[in-house]
Amino acid sequence: MDNLVDSFVPKEFMGEIIAIVNQKGGTGKTTTSVNLSSALARQGKDVVVIDFDPQANLTYAFGIEENEGTIADVLREQNSLSDVLLEREGARVAPGDIALADVEVSLINEIGREFFLSEAIKGLNGYDYLIIDCPPSLSLLAINALVAADYSIVPMQMEVMSLQGLNQIRNTIERINRSYKLDIYIKGILAVMVDRRRNLDSEIEDFIQNNYEIPLFSSKIRTNVRASEAPSFGQSVISYAPRSNSAIDYMEFARELMNNEP
Ligand SMILES: Nc1ncnc2c1ncn2[C@@H]1O[C@H](COP(=O)(O)OP(=O)(O)O)[C@@H](O)[C@H]1O
Ligand SMILES: [Mg+2]
Repeated sequence: MDNLVDSFVPKEFMGEIIAIVNQKGGTGKTTTSVNLSSALARQGKDVVVIDFDPQANLTYAFGIEENEGTIADVLREQNSLSDVLLEREGARVAPGDIALADVEVSLINEIGREFFLSEAIKGLNGYDYLIIDCPPSLSLLAINALVAADYSIVPMQMEVMSLQGLNQIRNTIERINRSYKLDIYIKGILAVMVDRRRNLDSEIEDFIQNNYEIPLFSSKIRTNVRASEAPSFGQSVISYAPRSNSAIDYMEFARELMNNEP
């Protein structure tokens, strides 16, 4: 029999919070955040996505130039999360901006400095997925994102160098879990910018599957020039070039996630 208590929990409390994390830059975090959000929204899900990188690439990629407020204001408690959300491609986007870097510095001496994003998210409900595009670091902002999340997804190119960072992410998450009695985990590695013609890709895939206890999503995102063009048009690649490989791959990845694999 189903847990009776669970069956009475209203929908608004059942969303999944996902941190898209990798401390290296250029590993496809923002591209994944934009396109996963768009793909999930297209499949009828209620999606919120937060630009949590001071470089604000996600904000740009969604064509947001002017906004009433950003996630930096929310952390400074000058605005609520629901007040800064803008609709793009059926998803609700919390813009970021460079002020996030100053906020990070100012948080360092605050009590509960790791929990500012969690607190901000608590006031929001009615989403199926809340996606956080993390900065390229494991600094206080990234830790805020991980602490707020139910799980993380690590987009990665299938290269030897990428593996070195994997242990670091895993150790950071373990440390957070131990310190704060949380249960965050890496749901999976998403292979991005994959070139199926290269053998190295599948060798690294095998290596990850044999040596890390982290699953690899069966969906993979192929390299496609459309994916790199789309941000200048303020669109996901799914809107900009729906028939491109990366658009097809991100739609498939969204379905895999919705089916709760791996
Ligand atoms: N599937 C892809 N095909 C081609 N270019 C891609 C793909 N995914 C990402 N890129 C490009 O790679 C660069 C880094 O991606 P980005 O998502 O910004 O990484 P991060 O957010 O981790 O720094 C960007 O220029 C982006 O357009
Ligand atoms: Mg980025």
